[in-house]
Amino acid sequence: MKKICVIGLGYIGLPTASLLATKGFDVLGVDIRADVVEKLNRGEIHIVEPGLDVLVKSAVHSGNFKASPKPALADIFILAVPTPFHEDKTPDITYVEAATRSIAPFLAEGNLVILESTSPVGTTAHIQKIISTMRPELKNIYYAHCPERVIPGKVLQELIENDRVVGGVDAESTEKTVAFYRGFVAGKVLATDAKTAEMCKLTENAFRDVNIAFANELSLICDKLNINVWELIRLANHHPRVKILQPGPGVGGHCIAVDPWFIVASAPEVSPLLRTARQVNDGKPEWVIAKVTAAAAKFKNPVIACLGVAFKADIDDLRESPSLMIAERLRDANIGQVLVCEPNVNQLKGFELVDLETAILRADILVILVDHQPFKILEKQQVRGKVVIDTKGIIRP
Ligand SMILES: NC(=O)c1ccc[n+]([C@@H]2O[C@H](COP(=O)([O-])OP(=O)(O)OC[C@H]3O[C@@H](n4cnc5c(N)ncnc54)[C@H](O)[C@@H]3O)[C@@H](O)[C@H]2O)c1
Repeated sequence: MKKICVIGLGYIGLPTASLLATKGFDVLGVDIRADVVEKLNRGEIHIVEPGLDVLVKSAVHSGNFKASPKPALADIFILAVPTPFHEDKTPDITYVEAATRSIAPFLAEGNLVILESTSPVGTTAHIQKIISTMRPELKNIYYAHCPERVIPGKVLQELIENDRVVGGVDAESTEKTVAFYRGFVAGKVLATDAKTAEMCKLTENAFRDVNIAFANELSLICDKLNINVWELIRLANHHPRVKILQPGPGVGGHCIAVDPWFIVASAPEVSPLLRTARQVNDGKPEWVIAKVTAAAAKFKNPVIACLGVAFKADIDDLRESPSLMIAERLRDANIGQVLVCEPNVNQLKGFELVDLETAILRADILVILVDHQPFKILEKQQVRGKVVIDTKGIIRP
């Protein structure tokens, strides 16, 4: 039984660690947050992800999963810590560096270190350098990047079913890492080098960002020309080689809204399209705020209900959420009373959180920001008499 140490027990690390434990590996999950460690050791979870509570419970009860604030000796180390950006949009890899330094004392000959965090090109080699400096006596440590592609809400299914890209710093590292993932992944495990694997993940998210920017720009053009953008896209997508994505209130999350900047930072002079796409998507919330502000000006102290503040449908993740940013800006602008309906969270600091019925009842202006399932069944007649600003095109005629 191989011993695995997973560093970072968030949306990626925790499902990975508990899945590996239920597959028979001896897993130590490490997190710097004491509350997370305590909770997990009680078999409870701190994030929302369908099926994760059951998986973690069974991982803990099997005796194969334990959480700890400190790493320990293992055969394989998996790093799944955050990789945000700095204020100037350059990558912040300090979490990866700290996690790397934390495992260095526990490494032994033959160990494999896998970076799962989405990272700028060169980070896997950088990890190798840190460890070689801290432990110069170690000659056979293997390093690879295996980016995670799961979508929140379907993580447990996609952890197993998705194809994975694995890139080692050398051929042996790649080979060992491919063999490890083939042990529990049903999708294809595709081998490459570390830099290509790093760039691959960034490219996937940049591709989506550019395509969403196209849809968002279309939505602004259509608004000016008084054309229903949703109908337009539906019709255009009947072309056999056209597949336009859906517009929205902006692009959020810690992946699509962040990762293209990692590419731009590494080659700024040759990435104008990627930078512009980011700017178009970052500009969309401003447009929504302007729309709501104009609508609010027609009322005296209107009630503005924001439906959804998560960064995408049917999750509780509010990080980098354009919808939350819109709700906050509307609240701070003092243009009316702002309510929030977010069925996936129990509390939201600074807001009156209401259920859907109350939101509709009390609102003068309804701002639909996320296409959560409970909102998708809304009919036009249910919101009659309200000003509706529907950034997701979900109100049915
Ligand atoms: N969440 C997703 O859907 C998703 C999808 C694909 C890739 N990713 C990438 O995976 C990585 C992890 O993302 P996440 O969403 O799981 O982040 P997260 O914030 O949910 O979890 C990260 C965890 O790491 C812990 N941590 C930070 N520094 C640590 C350290 N030095 N030692 C131990 N623990 C430490 C934090 O306390 C936190 O619990 C990021 O690079 C992200 O871009 C995320």
